[in-house]
Amino acid sequence: MIHASTPEKPSSETKVKLWDFPVRLFHWALVAAVVTAWWSNQQVMIDIHAIAGYSVLTLVIFRIIWGFVGSSNARFASFLAGPKRVLGYAAKVPKGTAAELTYAGHNPAGGWMVAVLLLLVAVQAVSGLFTSEDTFLFFDGPLVAYASSDVASTMNWIHHNNINLIYAAVGLHVFAAFFYLVVKRENLITAMITGARKVPTELAGMFAKIRFASPLLGIGILVLCGLLVWGGVTLARG
Ligand code: HEM
Ligand code: HEM
Repeated sequence: MIHASTPEKPSSETKVKLWDFPVRLFHWALVAAVVTAWWSNQQVMIDIHAIAGYSVLTLVIFRIIWGFVGSSNARFASFLAGPKRVLGYAAKVPKGTAAELTYAGHNPAGGWMVAVLLLLVAVQAVSGLFTSEDTFLFFDGPLVAYASSDVASTMNWIHHNNINLIYAAVGLHVFAAFFYLVVKRENLITAMITGARKVPTELAGMFAKIRFASPLLGIGILVLCGLLVWGGVTLARG
């Protein structure tokens, strides 16, 4: 079958830098932490589950801050587009050329996917702080003691149900990454690992406009977020 949508191989390609180090570290650490939280729950290892959850919380707080002070293409303002642009982009996906579908950051549809993923993992991590297991693990999240039983039971419910939304969103997200790889021949996955990507030379200009923030600033903010979460949990546990 001939794919009408398969972009023609451009005559020349240029390697461009796309994602800063803090964004890449954030992404793969988030994947590791979410998978560890899921896996440790299967293994009934609640201490590891809690640590993985605090790590997710740390990473999400970091990413929210980085969404305001990070590299230009990591900022929310640069990738959360209005409905018109999102729908316009989605309509172009099936037949679009590289020139129409390439962005020096998240595309308008992907940008909202990012926001949804961040929100869902944030809800999971925060609700976990209020979640208890009192049948055989006898474990209380660190904020259970500060919440009314109504709040705690609502959070418990959210923690046990929101995970299904995470499965769906992550499934769609990974499907989209492979869709771009296989159908559109755009390797966004390697770009999230190495930070670089090959694009048709005539599109390289938009990547030259990215303003990269200092990676050290990113690491510093991430460490502070970790200290904040660790300190908060320690304080709450008394
Ligand atoms: C627990 C699973 C995952 C979660 C929660 C997750 C979450 C996210 C988030 C929040 C971003 C935005 C990155 C940023 O701007 O900081 C992102 C981007 C991305 N993720 Fe994931 N991810 C997951 C798994 C994966 C996997 C397994 C792959 C590879 C197959 C993948 C490939 C990508 C790619 C390619 C991007 C960049 C998309 C673009 O170019 O716009 N993700 N992911
Ligand atoms: C994003 C991070 C997290 C993920 C992905 C996650 C995932 C899960 C999942 C899948 C379950 C089982 C739900 C079910 O069986 O219906 C669960 C249960 C639970 N989680 Fe989390 N969780 C996270 C963070 C946390 C945090 C931060 C805490 C508390 C420190 C926590 C405490 C608990 C407790 C107490 C249970 C109940 C255990 C049980 O019923 O066996 N979780 N979590």
